Amino acid sequence: MHDSHDGKTVTMTEQEVEAGQAVYSKPILGIYDWFVLGFSNRLIWKCPSRHILALYDRHVTANHLDVGVGTGYFLDSCRFPDASTRLGLMDLNSNCLDAAGKRLARYRPEVYRANVLDPISRDIPSFDSISLTYLLHCLPGTMKTKSAVFRHLKPLLKPNGVMFGATLLSDGVHRSWAAKRLMALYNAKGVFTNDQDDLQGLRTALSEHFTSVTIDVVGCAALFSARG
Ligand SMILES: C[S@@+](CC[C@H](N)C(=O)[O-])C[C@H]1O[C@@H](n2cnc3c(N)ncnc32)[C@H](O)[C@@H]1O
Repeated sequence: MHDSHDGKTVTMTEQEVEAGQAVYSKPILGIYDWFVLGFSNRLIWKCPSRHILALYDRHVTANHLDVGVGTGYFLDSCRFPDASTRLGLMDLNSNCLDAAGKRLARYRPEVYRANVLDPISRDIPSFDSISLTYLLHCLPGTMKTKSAVFRHLKPLLKPNGVMFGATLLSDGVHRSWAAKRLMALYNAKGVFTNDQDDLQGLRTALSEHFTSVTIDVVGCAALFSARG
């Protein structure tokens, strides 16, 4: 966790972590659902958001933690199996936590500000399901180093729980010319760091932490679920 924005104490790695979430200002969050979840998912990444929503409907439980919440769109739209849902929201960016927290106020969410690349030090009661959607491709590093996220979040997941989500990959998936250009731009700006992320690397990272791993590729997105 780091709060310094003065440029003096921020190391290179912290700057990279910062870049992966700093883009989510209030104005950007205002157009996020339309631009990312509508336009880009359908026309650039070729993974219409209904596929990700179906993943939530399949795996979400009434005791759920979402990590990298953005605007909270999928949590707002998915079907929780129980009206009395316990919902946790975790993110490094307080704009995202505010936006998703307001949108999901009906669940009285627990809000946690944390950098998932650091160990999660709080004593948080565990969840039956944890989602990380479009988080991994925003994190600096390689799939090998990003797998720290699974290690940090696993203590928050009950032994029979499920971790699921989606991430955009560069290799092992089909990318259109437009997808390659937009990904290259986002990688150059540090908004994404996924130019080395591939399908096999994701499978290896998940398999190091879970015994049962399922990955479906839709466009350039890998939709995964993992247990055990
Ligand atoms: C592309 S958005 C995904 C939003 C949402 N899950 C969705 O699919 O629409 C990535 C989210 O991850 C968060 N994020 C980026 N880096 C993070 C980090 N190191 N720790 C925690 N959250 C981070 C961002 O603030 C943002 O909310």
